[in-house]
Amino acid sequence: MCGIFGYIGRRTAAPIIVKGLKKLEYRGYDSFGIATLGSGIEISKHEGRISENGRSAIRLNGTIGIGHTRWATHGIPNDINAHPHMDCKNRIAIVHNGIIENYADLKRQLIARGHRFLSETDTEVIAHLIEEKYTNNLLTAVRDTVSDLQGSFALLVISPEEQRIVAARNASPLVIGVGDGEFFAASDMTPILEYTERAMFLEDGDIASLSQTKVEIFHGDDIVTRQIELIDWSVEDTKKGGFPHYMLKEIYEQPQAFYNSISGITKETIPRVAIKPSSVVIVACGSSFHAGLIFKYLLEETCGIPVRIEYASEFKYFPPPVNGLVIGITQSGETADTLTALKQAKAHNCSTLAITNVLGSSVSRIADSTLYMRAGPEISVAATKSFVAQLAVLMQLINIYSDNQFNKVLLQGHRAIEDILLKDLSEAIAICKKAHSLFYVGRGAFFPVSLEGALKMKEISYIHAEGYAAGELKHGPFALLSKDTPVIAICMPDDTYGVMISNIKEIKARGAPVIALGVEGDSELTDVVDLFISVPKTHKFVQVLTSLVILQLLAYHTAVALKRDIDKPRNLAKSVTVE
Ligand code: AGP
Repeated sequence: MCGIFGYIGRRTAAPIIVKGLKKLEYRGYDSFGIATLGSGIEISKHEGRISENGRSAIRLNGTIGIGHTRWATHGIPNDINAHPHMDCKNRIAIVHNGIIENYADLKRQLIARGHRFLSETDTEVIAHLIEEKYTNNLLTAVRDTVSDLQGSFALLVISPEEQRIVAARNASPLVIGVGDGEFFAASDMTPILEYTERAMFLEDGDIASLSQTKVEIFHGDDIVTRQIELIDWSVEDTKKGGFPHYMLKEIYEQPQAFYNSISGITKETIPRVAIKPSSVVIVACGSSFHAGLIFKYLLEETCGIPVRIEYASEFKYFPPPVNGLVIGITQSGETADTLTALKQAKAHNCSTLAITNVLGSSVSRIADSTLYMRAGPEISVAATKSFVAQLAVLMQLINIYSDNQFNKVLLQGHRAIEDILLKDLSEAIAICKKAHSLFYVGRGAFFPVSLEGALKMKEISYIHAEGYAAGELKHGPFALLSKDTPVIAICMPDDTYGVMISNIKEIKARGAPVIALGVEGDSELTDVVDLFISVPKTHKFVQVLTSLVILQLLAYHTAVALKRDIDKPRNLAKSVTVE
């Protein structure tokens, strides 16, 4: 995904756009660019990050401008492929988030008609198409152009002929901030919060004209209104607040996020589709998939409701026979694979429920109903507090399905997370930072906890890490065990305890050092492992949370020790809006 930001008002646009793009950088950070309406179109675009030293001193004139921070899809990150892109006559400048699927055909046709292309991007075709359609009305030209486009787009377009920004949306997020005598258009609210909490979310197919005095939104031939919503995220939520990294701040925000998310969902307020289903199918990706897998184990164990879980990216191409309730879990609400899977589930006449953190995100427009996590904005690419908030929502659903028998347990959740934040992990960090490869193992609900621990580790430390169901390690991965491949085992006192101890002994017998997470006072486990990290002896739900937080902190501190780019790991972006 990429981040786009536009400003129109009385102030000089460039510094506002620079600031906005820095806030959006978590959406993509390999190159950036800005265009303003000064003397003609003034443009500045570069490979690299706008937040790098000295990159943000961009002096462009004018009170109208658009900007972009990129996560490359078509063409390598360089100055030329950076947005904005222009037409042949430099009369149109455009920034785009999304993918134009039919760009190759369009490009061939445009070249045949004499257009000159500078970049390898899909986006540039849009500028040339608008150039062809433009006579004296930018809005009409954009409207005529988007009807030729297949794929996803959030677009901002300017032309020196007109004092406005034209915005268009299809399957990529676009929000308009309504300020006092000024308007903002952006991929999400984070860069806008500083100026206004009033926002309008464009719908797919909307085209908007932002002038200095008004916003007009069109859908087809109709002029439409989109409700102004008040966003309750604060600008402070989007700052580091004294922490060295967003990720650490967000880990420390987890007690509050868990509590808020638990409290936001009650039996009385859950949507009708979510009321005790007879079976559930989950579609999700990455960490959200792991949250879904934890839910599967816990729900099946406590309520006997069967849960099937599918990678959203597979669901579209290999749809299983589905019926009943399909839940899409996506913190961003914009993950293309998850959106597609939900659309497909709807096409099969399933009821659909979204669990997301972002008000107005695309998933909430697709699903029949939405449950919002209340984690607040998450800026670090590695998901932490949104993951815990997903678990809060899912555990609260289990609680509701079980006639509130876990009320007390869940109300302890945030305190247990708070206490575990102070755990000394220095010995474990010393072991992990030297490793070339790590294995994480667990059984039952602790298997997906191990998957998530491994994902966090590889994502930010770049150490190869794999999560495994503990019983699977001997079916192949044992060949990789040596004194240089530490294994992190999550071994809680449940029905699998005995077999976990056997698995750990087998691992030890192959020479691999074992770091174990277990409950305090477990001397049997302490005796068989190299390093023992304890969590309080509480309910399984809480042990899932506490062991998970330990693994997040282990990944974080290991990555810090290795001097990694914690909040913006290489090659990644916060949410993946392409399939
Ligand atoms: C998590 O740390 C990752 N950044 C990634 O796996 C993420 O969870 C995945 O891309 C799904 O994102 P979503 O929850 O926004 O759909």
